[in-house]
Amino acid sequence: MPQNQKDWKEEGLFNLAYSLLFKAGYLTLFGGEQNNNSTDPSSVYEEYKKFDGLLTKLARGTLKPEEKRTAQSVRQRLWELLAPAGLTEDSGSSPWLHAYRQLLREEGTDEETQKKAVLMQLWASQGNVGPAAFWLLGYLLTNPEALAAVKREMETLETSLPDGPVNTPVFDSALDETLRLTAAPFITREVVQEKTLHMANGQEYLLRKGDRVCLFPFNSPQMDPEIYQEPQKFKYDRFLNDDGSAKRDFYKAGRRLKYYTMPWGAGTNGCVGKQFAINTIRQFVYMLLTHCDLELCDPNAPMPEVNASRYGFGMLQPEGDLLVRYKPKSTL
Ligand code: HEM
Repeated sequence: MPQNQKDWKEEGLFNLAYSLLFKAGYLTLFGGEQNNNSTDPSSVYEEYKKFDGLLTKLARGTLKPEEKRTAQSVRQRLWELLAPAGLTEDSGSSPWLHAYRQLLREEGTDEETQKKAVLMQLWASQGNVGPAAFWLLGYLLTNPEALAAVKREMETLETSLPDGPVNTPVFDSALDETLRLTAAPFITREVVQEKTLHMANGQEYLLRKGDRVCLFPFNSPQMDPEIYQEPQKFKYDRFLNDDGSAKRDFYKAGRRLKYYTMPWGAGTNGCVGKQFAINTIRQFVYMLLTHCDLELCDPNAPMPEVNASRYGFGMLQPEGDLLVRYKPKSTL
């Protein structure tokens, strides 16, 4: 333990990243601080975590009777907490949420569906950012060379990051690599017109109108050894060219790939929050690395295993946590 023990705070990195980013994101989009019901973001987070923990079983229909009751009461509680968010222009929520709720009303959506839709937006907007920031920081802390490279790049930036575009190729590469290893969503689509898919190996699939298609890009391209050497390994500079620019050319069977990694999905239904999420994670990592001392409690701690039940549900989550300590940097 470093000398001035009392200044350091110990915490699991997953909990640290998820709780902070959830609360910041919730306040930004749902505006709990100024809601009439003065919803405390911590209580929303507590309920949300219970919901998130049951989500995979809920979706698979494998909840035990008692879990079913908990899931129902947690959803009810979340609906109550979220009810005022975005209802009126002065509810303190973002214009986006207000416009969304207005749209639901104009389309004549019933109360029940409106509640579900708002909860779905909470999950879509907050369920992936915290876990992504956790994996990125975890990989950096367990790979000193990568951490040093990202820190070096951050030192060249202004003291606070602008909201607009920022040129951070090293950070971007480390984030792309993190997402390649830990983003595992099912990408589902309804087939609206008959189409034949031609595979790289010559195989063909006929998609019939009305079929539902489910892609799992985690297996390929993301973990495909033909595309990425040692695919299980975190290499922070995998998405960098020798000249330091972003690398976008990856090949399979000699052909350049259009979709070489798909953490955000693709096409017209791809993630609408991508840029917002990237800016948020960059800002968070920048704040932590430049304003705080942050280190592993056990310098040799390995990255935790993945919770296997979450494959298919967006960002993976760890089994257990990675214990870190942190304190504000001394200004002298
Ligand atoms: C690391 C963070 C994030 C990841 C990895 C992620 C990933 C994804 C993926 C894989 C999809 C499905 C895309 C498809 O079917 O092709 C999706 C959809 C979506 N995401 Fe994200 N997302 C993230 C953050 C966010 C944020 C911050 C927001 C909002 C502020 C957001 C809003 C949405 C919405 C609304 C959809 C549904 C889009 C549609 O169906 O048309 N996401 N996201």
